[in-house]
Amino acid sequence: MQDQRRESNFQRPEVAVPKAGTKPAPADWQLWRDRRGRLSALRIAALALLLVPLAKALYDAGAILHGARPLNDLIHRAGFWALVFLGITLAVTPFRRIARYGQLIDVRRMLGVGTFCYIAAHLVLFVADQGYDLGKVAHEISHRVYLIIGGIAWLGLAALAATSTDGMVRRLGPLRWRRLHQAVYGIVLLALIHYFQQTKADVTVPTFAAGLFLWLMAYRVLAWWQDTGELSTLSLVALAVVVSALTFAGEAIGIGIAFHVSPMRVLDTAFDFDVGIRPGWQVLAAALAVAALDAVRARWNGRSARARAVAAE
Ligand code: HEM
Repeated sequence: MQDQRRESNFQRPEVAVPKAGTKPAPADWQLWRDRRGRLSALRIAALALLLVPLAKALYDAGAILHGARPLNDLIHRAGFWALVFLGITLAVTPFRRIARYGQLIDVRRMLGVGTFCYIAAHLVLFVADQGYDLGKVAHEISHRVYLIIGGIAWLGLAALAATSTDGMVRRLGPLRWRRLHQAVYGIVLLALIHYFQQTKADVTVPTFAAGLFLWLMAYRVLAWWQDTGELSTLSLVALAVVVSALTFAGEAIGIGIAFHVSPMRVLDTAFDFDVGIRPGWQVLAAALAVAALDAVRARWNGRSARARAVAAE
C-alpha cells in the first residue's frame, strides 16, 4: 500500500493530458499563445530565453568567423546551451513547487523541444565540420567513446522530442508516457559523461553542471521518499549541504584519478579562493538560494492566507 502510494506520488501527473474532442489548441507555430489561445507572457519569456544563445552567436559573429575553427566554436556553443536548457527543463518541476508558480508547467514542453533544437544543431554542425561526408561522420562517432556516448544521448533526446506531442501523450497514455520520459535522467548522465570526456583540462564548469543535475535528481528522490511532493525549507538546506559535499568529493576523486594525486590534496584547495571558487561552493550557493526562495515563498503564502482569513471574517 505504502509502495503504491509512493509510486503514484513519484509519478504525480504533471503532464496535461488533452482529451479527444476538446476545443482545438492554437496552431503549433503560435508558440506565444497558451492552450486557450491567449497571449502568454510566460511563453514569450521562455521563447526569448531559448533565443538568447542564437542572439549571442550573432553578436559574436565577427569573433567566431575570425576564430581558428568557426564550426568547432559553434559545435561547442550548441552543445553547451543544449545542456543548459536540459537543466532548465528539469528544473521546472522543483522550481514550480518551490516558487509556488504552477503555471511554469505550461512552458516545460517548449523548453524540452528547444533543447532538442540545439542538440539537433550540435549534430548538424558536427556533420558540416566533417565536410558533410556521412561515412566519415559514422566512422568518427563509432571510433570515439565520447561520441558514442553523445550519440546515444542524442537518440534518447530525439525519442523524447518525437513523443512530446499531445497526440503521443494520448496514444501512449499518461503513465507510459511518463515512464518513457523518465529516460531523461539516464540521458542527462550520458550527456554529462560526454561533456566531461571532451573537456581537455579544466573541469570546473562540467563539475558545477554535474552538481546541479545531482541536486535536481536528489530533489525528486527525496520528495518521492518523503511522500510529500514538496520539501520543507529545512530539507532543502540539508539537500544543499549534502549535494555540495558530494560535488566536492566527486571533483576531488575525479581529479585525483585523472592526475594521479591524492583526493585529500585536492580537497585542501577548497578554501584557497585565490585559485578560484570550487564548484562545490557554487553548487552550495545555488542550492541555498533555492532554499531561501522557498522560505520567502512559504512566509509570503502564510501571510496572504492570514490576510484572506481576516478579510473573510
Ligand atoms: C551524435 C551526437 C553528438 C555528437 C557527434 C557530438 C559531438 C561533439 C563534439 C565534436 C564536441 C566538441 C569536442 C571537441 O572540440 O573536442 C562536443 C562537445 C559538447 N557536446 Fe556533444 N555531441 C553529441 C551529442 C551531445 C549531446 C546529446 C549533448 C547534451 C545534451 C552534448 C553536449 C555537448 C557539450 C556540453 C559539449 C561541450 C561544450 C563546451 O565546450 O562548452 N553533445 N560534442
